[in-house]
Amino acid sequence: MTKLIVANLKSNHNLKMVEDWAKQVIEFLDQNDLNILATLAPPFPFLARLAEIIQGTKLSLAVQDLSPYKAGSYTGAVCGESLEGLNIDYAVLGHSERRHYFNETDQEVALKVKRSLQAGITPLLCVDEPFLESQLKALHEVFIDWSSVRMQVAMVYEPLTAIGSGQAAQTKPIQEMLEQIKSYYKVEMALYGGSVDASNVNDYLEIGDGVLVGTAAKRAESFIELLRAVK
Ligand code: PGA
Repeated sequence: MTKLIVANLKSNHNLKMVEDWAKQVIEFLDQNDLNILATLAPPFPFLARLAEIIQGTKLSLAVQDLSPYKAGSYTGAVCGESLEGLNIDYAVLGHSERRHYFNETDQEVALKVKRSLQAGITPLLCVDEPFLESQLKALHEVFIDWSSVRMQVAMVYEPLTAIGSGQAAQTKPIQEMLEQIKSYYKVEMALYGGSVDASNVNDYLEIGDGVLVGTAAKRAESFIELLRAVK
């Protein structure tokens, strides 16, 4: 299966910076035949412009969050319906920063997974160990028949200690955890995230189905360096 590399820009940059980022990465992907899928998760305001820029290129688009509600009176929320026509392939959901700073609950995250699937967007559902059990329980409550959708969901294991710390986790326990998550959630895909960079990306691609990259994706140059390192 082709591995997925997600660049999470988090709450950084302006339109011009993101346009330049995308153009540089697209040029690199064009000139190098990599056996990976690269996707960019920019801040929401830049999606429409990026949807034009990525057309016909090897770069795809992701969102960093999604409303748990359908379209309606929910000021400030971005719903799946609003994303139609923007060529969004993935949604990063339940990221630990959302859970921590915005008090997202397992129930909300489960609803976001539902909305994402309804919008035809593949959810990348982030979990750390404390949420393994409660998140699955919430998914079972929201979906009733989790088994009918589970294959369309990719899990992302992000140990809190590894996110943004520069302290990437040891691969052996990560491998075990990814296997555990796959069998527990009964999903096909599990990615790793947390201090992934050019020096360790191959270790994680070897044991998982992809990586979620924050710090090393912020600047196009360092993301390209990471892509260049992929074997
Ligand atoms: P990091 O971020 O690469 O800076 O650790 C990863 C993430 O937050 O998904």
